[in-house]
Amino acid sequence: MKVAVGPDPSLVYRPDVDPEVAKDKGRFRNFTSGPLLDRVFATYKQMHTQQTVDFVRKKHTQFGGFSYKKMTVLEAVDMLDGLVDESDPDVDFPNSFHAFQTAEGIRKAHPDKDWFHLVGLLHDLGKVLVLAGEPQWAVVGDTFPVGCRPQASVVFCDSTFQDNPDLQDPRYSTELGMYRPHCGLENVLMCWGHDEYMYQMMKFNKFSLPPEAFYVVRFHSFYPWHTGGDYRQLCSEQDLAMLPWVQEFKYGHPRGGLVGRDEGWRGWGLPHKALSLPCCSKFDLYTKSSELPDVDTLRPYYQGLIDKYCPGVLSW
Ligand SMILES: [Fe+2]
Repeated sequence: MKVAVGPDPSLVYRPDVDPEVAKDKGRFRNFTSGPLLDRVFATYKQMHTQQTVDFVRKKHTQFGGFSYKKMTVLEAVDMLDGLVDESDPDVDFPNSFHAFQTAEGIRKAHPDKDWFHLVGLLHDLGKVLVLAGEPQWAVVGDTFPVGCRPQASVVFCDSTFQDNPDLQDPRYSTELGMYRPHCGLENVLMCWGHDEYMYQMMKFNKFSLPPEAFYVVRFHSFYPWHTGGDYRQLCSEQDLAMLPWVQEFKYGHPRGGLVGRDEGWRGWGLPHKALSLPCCSKFDLYTKSSELPDVDTLRPYYQGLIDKYCPGVLSW
């Protein structure tokens, strides 16, 4: 069964791509006008109006028991083939190809890190939420913390939050909102979507992957943090130590030396020694090319990783 779904705004619209990236990758996420941008804006408008502390808590309650479905990882990968986004000009092939492409890109660059290969396959599986009937604005798009004022690098920040009731609530509308300084992202309530759902699912099913894997899945759409340099007032030391892994996943390199905005990455005080991951091709965004992986040939390798880290029938 095919389910009609609009574009994942995270994969379509990126207003602040850094110039180094844009130079050779400009053909991706390069939509500044037209009907696609209108759709993306409409999705963000809904998302930024309805993602509140109350809404997110309700979603954790609704899905946190993981009683939606029982299936293996590869069954979930196949299920995503029911989602085809015909409006995203970057992609005209099933979603599962993107999962395998991402995984293979990582495998080429990090042949020794099998857990990272598996993260490539897993990272978007939370999009099964769409098949569970969830609206697009509660599944995809760039993520942000609820419970505090959205920061400047949140996409369409100035034009989409005016009807969000939390921003009229003094508990949630200051820079720190309901959080303590440097409380750590693990204590922050992120807006509800496929990243958070999949992270919680991995925890619930006790995936034996390293902490970096959980981190990449949970925050891969948190562009205002991993790319915009915002929300550092909420970060712990551990968050800063994990950041290069998220950037490695998104960009194929850490972004410590690149500054997108004033007071951006320079303010993080990241030690460059910690940023010595190899520079290589991009895995998530920029593996979206029409060179389709031979999925049947790849399946046995990934089945082996699944058997090692998250075997059998899982609770979704
Ligand atoms: Fe994603």
